[in-house]
Amino acid sequence: MAKGIYIHTFGCQMNVQDSEKMTFLMGAEGYEPVISPREADLVILNTCSIRQKAVQKIMSRLGRLRDLKRRKPTMIIAVGGCLAQQWGKEFLEKADHLDIVFGTHNIHRLPEMVRKVREGGGRVSDISFHGSVPSLKIQASPEEGKVGAYVTIMQGCDNFCTYCVVPLLRGPEESRPLDEILAEIRCLADRGIREVTLLGQNVNSYGRNLPGGASFARLLREIDDLGVMERVRFTTSHPRDLSDEVIGLFGRLRSLCEHIHLPVQSGSDAVLTMMNRGYTRDDYLRKVEKLRDVCPDIAVSSDMIVGFPGETEKDFLQTLDLMEKIRFDNLFSFKYSEREGTVAVGLPGKVPEEEKARRLTILQGLQDRHALERNRSWEGREVEVLVEGPSKGDPREMTGRTRGNKIVNFPGRGEMKGRLVKTRIVRAFLHSLRGEPVAEE
Ligand code: SAH
Ligand code: SF4
Ligand code: F3S
Repeated sequence: MAKGIYIHTFGCQMNVQDSEKMTFLMGAEGYEPVISPREADLVILNTCSIRQKAVQKIMSRLGRLRDLKRRKPTMIIAVGGCLAQQWGKEFLEKADHLDIVFGTHNIHRLPEMVRKVREGGGRVSDISFHGSVPSLKIQASPEEGKVGAYVTIMQGCDNFCTYCVVPLLRGPEESRPLDEILAEIRCLADRGIREVTLLGQNVNSYGRNLPGGASFARLLREIDDLGVMERVRFTTSHPRDLSDEVIGLFGRLRSLCEHIHLPVQSGSDAVLTMMNRGYTRDDYLRKVEKLRDVCPDIAVSSDMIVGFPGETEKDFLQTLDLMEKIRFDNLFSFKYSEREGTVAVGLPGKVPEEEKARRLTILQGLQDRHALERNRSWEGREVEVLVEGPSKGDPREMTGRTRGNKIVNFPGRGEMKGRLVKTRIVRAFLHSLRGEPVAEE
């Protein structure tokens, strides 16, 4: 009889994709996805360590599994991902109901580790790093019926921004060969996928360690030349490494969507220097200006951190000023969270929690105004929507995204799923647009 697997994914899209790889690998071992941990024989928490809040959430979720395991002692509980990478064996000491700890480079070993536990081999852990990441080669199986999919183009990060744990937990940067990526995209297209998001911590440096002159610009062009993918997006870009060549592709490559996620982190030069970001606020403003010159409709989203050590009120006002100048379509903003092992731990000028909270509230208020204003600029215009399916609340309502990554809800029919529908935007909200269908494929 098939066994049940339940994966709870925390953190970023890398983890989402890694979870899909785990599902694929364990599928070959006879494990089928179930909808709740209660029905599962194997529960995996794919963890994240980016901020302390993520760690708290994971520990409380793990705590709740203790009772379940008591009632069903054959259940195997595993933790993978970034927090597992960070804590390693110690994780087994922190939670005595845990069977397996596996790191970000050891996904390929999961089947073998599960077998070992089932055969009574005791609790196991492996967080070893590998020079060439075997898990980069594992195929991910996107959920049945999805319109879009992720494609990992690189692993790891060499940037060492002073606040960030990712380089410590994902290892050094490594790009995937270009032909492998193209083959995967062809394969996804054959399965009906119409939109891919290329994944990496710093996609702009793609190809740096590959022989044969691969670059991110070349990758985007070759994907476009395949002619099989309707839409291509990517995340994340590092502003320092965003080349004029890549900027020039927006509005020119048919498949490349008019949206860029370009995390800025702060609008103050002093803070950017302390963060080791490698660009100034002026560099950033100029890059966005160039993007808007070549592609006036481009949507720009970003990440921002408030309360980095040493951030003064003046620095914070610089951040608000940068936001006023750019007017982001969407912004993910965070209170700085101190991470063990990072350079920022030793920096002076810690900002009190209440002050971080105050700055975050002000920043988010401003962003809400900008987001609504940006969305309103679409009212009355016709946009192409790739339909993802019926909206959750009402089956007569369909939902999808524009090329600029804005959510559009409109009256439609189930068969529209996966199709391009031209809609006229009749109303803008903070997080979505309302459309009327005008024409469909
Ligand atoms: N590689 C990506 C982002 C990875 S993490 C990039 O360079 O842009 C996603 C976001 O989490 C970051 O952009 C940053 O805004 C935020 N972040 C990372 N470490 C953080 C920390 N210690 N405290 C608060 N936010 C953090
Ligand atoms: Fe972290 Fe910076 Fe690397 Fe992004 S680029 S993952 S923020 S170290
Ligand atoms: Fe979290 Fe690791 Fe992603 S720390 S944000 S899961 S790379």
